[in-house]
Amino acid sequence: MSNPQTAAGDFPVATIRAMFPALQRAGDFIFLDNAAGAQIPQSVLDAVTNHLVSHNVQRGGRYGRSVTVDQSVADARTSVALLINAYSPAEICFGMNATSFIRLVSLGIGQMLAKDTDEDRDEIVITDMDHDANIATWLALESAGAKFKWWRMREDGNLHVDDLRPLVSDRTRLVACTVTAHSIGSIVDVASVADIAHAAGAEVFLDCVHYGPHGLIDVQAWDCDYLVCSGYKNFSPHMGFLWGRFETLKRLPTFREDFIPNEPPYKVEAGTFIYENVAGMDAAVQYLELIGRNLAPSNNRSRRENIVAGMGAIRDYELLLAREMLGVLKACGATIYGVADETRINERVPTFCFNIGKLSPQRIVEEMAEMQIGIRDGHMYAPRLMKRLNLSMDSGAIRASLVHYNTVEEIRRFGEALRTIIAKLS
Ligand SMILES: Cc1ncc(COP(=O)(O)O)c(C=O)c1O
Repeated sequence: MSNPQTAAGDFPVATIRAMFPALQRAGDFIFLDNAAGAQIPQSVLDAVTNHLVSHNVQRGGRYGRSVTVDQSVADARTSVALLINAYSPAEICFGMNATSFIRLVSLGIGQMLAKDTDEDRDEIVITDMDHDANIATWLALESAGAKFKWWRMREDGNLHVDDLRPLVSDRTRLVACTVTAHSIGSIVDVASVADIAHAAGAEVFLDCVHYGPHGLIDVQAWDCDYLVCSGYKNFSPHMGFLWGRFETLKRLPTFREDFIPNEPPYKVEAGTFIYENVAGMDAAVQYLELIGRNLAPSNNRSRRENIVAGMGAIRDYELLLAREMLGVLKACGATIYGVADETRINERVPTFCFNIGKLSPQRIVEEMAEMQIGIRDGHMYAPRLMKRLNLSMDSGAIRASLVHYNTVEEIRRFGEALRTIIAKLS
């Protein structure tokens, strides 16, 4: 990765793949189930190993190894703050995964609703395009008095902010929506969501789990109030993080043992989290910075500027992959759920959900597995979306999800495999 390269066609994918041991060891296997979790670069593995070998102790002690853990957690907060453009590292909370963080925030907001702290604001807007983690967690607040408004996906495979406007009023407490659908890949105009919600005095909770590996996150530009990510979708081991505005987190009721400071991020982090995986997340941010740094070397660029450059290059390359995949699926006669119009390609990431006529998704995915291609079938943890698309929860659809280490050659092999399978099963 030593040459400055900017065009998507010049994206140094071979050099990048060489940084991922799992890809090097995979032989013929093609990873096309990245939406369920991405592979991790050697530098991330090294950070995890280094933690476990050199300072696998509890933080908060006075001896060197423990002090190092404190420093490593602080460094990770700084890195993740840069990754998402947080106002301060103290707004970054570490934990197990996205779902438990969404529930933690929903429990806090539920307590506020029950205590009438929020007076007449008892409505929560949810969408039928989200992962159920960002729906069921809010619906659970019905017993706390919450009422729900559904922001529904249009026929064209995306949420439209014009449909959100009439749902938001001075009764709205929160709008909870995804930045990008993990099932069908559609990108939502979340900055406009925040404009609409804030104009009515409501807050915005963004599920950024699926968008995370695909593009630049900017909580300041998006002007949201909460945002959640899963590290394991972002080239890190299994962990999750929550961001919230400092004052918002300060107000949020959380469970806290008596010895825990009543301050973010500590009041949000129940118990010990997985320090080695947090060290891995720090290294994953540095990996993304490295992509930006190597594409256009400069001594003067800040860490954030390198992230901006790296994620910009990833986004451009992934658009190329998305176009290629769209062409392959159309040539195979697939019914594509989500944005299928090439002129709207900017509205999607390379995550494709489809069916092939009446052929069984399960059978197609099993055949793909035989051919060393890992894709997924089923309901994609999105029961409301399945209903919206008239798909059964039992069979659902097929999802092939790419990230920046995938290649055009892999897409072509996937296309050949799909044609062979269609011929066999038809
Ligand atoms: C968009 C989206 N939200 C939430 C989740 C749940 O994340 P976690 O497994 O970290 O709880 C997922 C997991 O696939 C997801 O894709």
